[in-house]
Order: sequence, then structure tokens, then C-alpha cells
Amino acid sequence: MKLILDLDTGIDDAMAIAYACAHPDAELIGITTTFGNVKVEDATRNSLTILDYLGHPEIEVFEGAAAPIGSDSYTPEGGSVVFHGVNGLGEVDFKFSKRVKSEKTAVEFISEAIEIYGQELTLVPTGPLTNLAELLSKRKDLIGKFRVVLMGGALTVPGNTNLFAEANIYADPQAAKQAFESSQPITMVGLDVTLKTLLTKADTAQFRKLSQAGSLFADMIDYYIDAYLKYDNLNGCALHDPLAVGIAIEPTLAKVHQMHLTVETEGPSAGRTIGNHQKVNAPDPNVKVCLDVDAKAYMITFMELLSSALTK
Ligand code: BDR
Ligand code: CA
Repeated sequence: MKLILDLDTGIDDAMAIAYACAHPDAELIGITTTFGNVKVEDATRNSLTILDYLGHPEIEVFEGAAAPIGSDSYTPEGGSVVFHGVNGLGEVDFKFSKRVKSEKTAVEFISEAIEIYGQELTLVPTGPLTNLAELLSKRKDLIGKFRVVLMGGALTVPGNTNLFAEANIYADPQAAKQAFESSQPITMVGLDVTLKTLLTKADTAQFRKLSQAGSLFADMIDYYIDAYLKYDNLNGCALHDPLAVGIAIEPTLAKVHQMHLTVETEGPSAGRTIGNHQKVNAPDPNVKVCLDVDAKAYMITFMELLSSALTK
């Protein structure tokens, strides 16, 4: 399986890169970036940096959207900064990569990859869905020709930005609505399942022993865990983005409900993912919403893969 990760590279996005790099059944053929946890240029820098630390300087990074649809600029604030730090990597002193983004845009790179690999390719967006929406609107001919497994949304639990909205969808509700309402098959890995896979400081202590990269990863993830304890009263951090990669590679980890989904774009519930009431009885629902996950099996694989990625 070929993978492209579409990231707003903060802490759990960085874990998603490590998970994908170490998985024996997947090949990470490139990373595309978006604004979100950080500005897009910082997501690009962080992606290149994490790839270098993981010993994968051959993987290229293609920059995408700098702001939500209809906006000229974007500055991270609130939860993004609190959970991921100003540098997006928990204020840990990673030496930033000297590599730079590749020439093609995110959407150009993804389009070309779909033309080459088709259904062998899975795109895993783990930030706002702005790049995906641009791809689906510019290249309607590619709809249905590749797989999408994304981290975002919440159906059966409250949001994490506010009661209604999960952060990735909240950041660009219009883009998310376009993506979900297209006929592109999408698997949604939302808070319904990601809150069931929590990583603790006992886990990160194991990474710290492995290598310099392991020690930096442990410090970075501990910053994330501290935020979960302080703001969500949880004794571990949710593995949002790496779980999306896990389910992309091993779909049987999750129980899904197939439906037509939409996103509210206005008012206090902007960013809420919800059933599309105009299509309740329509055929061929395109979205598989993950409602449960084999958390135990996933956590075992996560620890094995991260340990392997961080052993040098
Ligand atoms: C999602 O929002 C971001 O802050 C995380 O990286 C994750 O993709 C969780 O709601
Ligand atoms: Ca993310």
C-alpha cells in the first residue's frame, strides 16, 4: 500500500509519520502539508525535521493550503498552541532540517500519485481538509479513484474545540463539507475512536531509552500528555493522527457505520459533523464513520512500530 500523509504537523502528526515509516505493509511516498496546529510553512519544516530524525531524508514534503477556504491568512491560537506548543513540536529543541519543500504543490503531487497508483494509494489527511477539498474540486475526474482515511470529526461524542466541533473540521468547515458531500469514499477516524487510544508517560518512558530521537520524541509527547491532563483531565494523550494511519493500513481494527455525512458551516455549531438529513434514505453512502476500535490491538502495534522507528 502506498501512503501520502496530509499533515498540519504538530505532535500527533509527528507520531503518525513515525508509525507510517515503520509499518512493514505501507510505503510512505510523500507528505503534503496544511495550516492547522501551526502555519503551513512550519508544518513543512516540522515534517522535514521529523523525517530527518527518523532517518528518512529521501521522503519529500509538498506544501499545500496556508489558510481556510475564503481566508487570506491563518494564525494558530488557542488549543493548537496549548496542545502542540508554538513550534508545533512541544517546544522541544529539535534541530530543524536544512531541507526545503519540493517544487510541486500538495494538490499537484497527490493528483499525480493517484494517476500512477489508483486504489493502491491511500491519502491520510490529519489536519484541516483544505487540500482534499481543492483536489476534489479541481480534479473531479479523480473522485473515487483512490482511498481516503482521515482524522477529523466526532459523531457520538462532543467536539474538542467546543461542544460541537473537532479541531480539524472546525478549522475549515467549508472544506470538510465539500469533501464529505462529494461522492469520494472516505473513512472518518474521529474522536469517537481516537479518545479510546491513549498513550501515557509510562509508554513514553520506553521511547526515552532508545536513542536521541527517542528521547526527543518522549519529551515532545510528554508536553502533549501534560496538556491532556490539564485541560481534559485525561491521564494520557489521544493518538488521533497515528490511529488514522493504523486504520488506513488495517481497516479491520475499526467498526464502522456507513452513512451520508455533512458539516455545519454556520452559527455556534460550525464544524459539527452530522448525518445529512437530505440524504438519509439515499443510496450509496460514501462515508464510513469509525464508531469503535480494537484499542488493545492497536496500542500493541503502536508501541512496536514507534519503538522500531526510534531505535537507531
Ligand atoms: C486533531 O487536531 C489536531 O490538533 C491534531 O493534530 C489532530 O489532528 C485532533 O482533534
Ligand atoms: Ca493533525
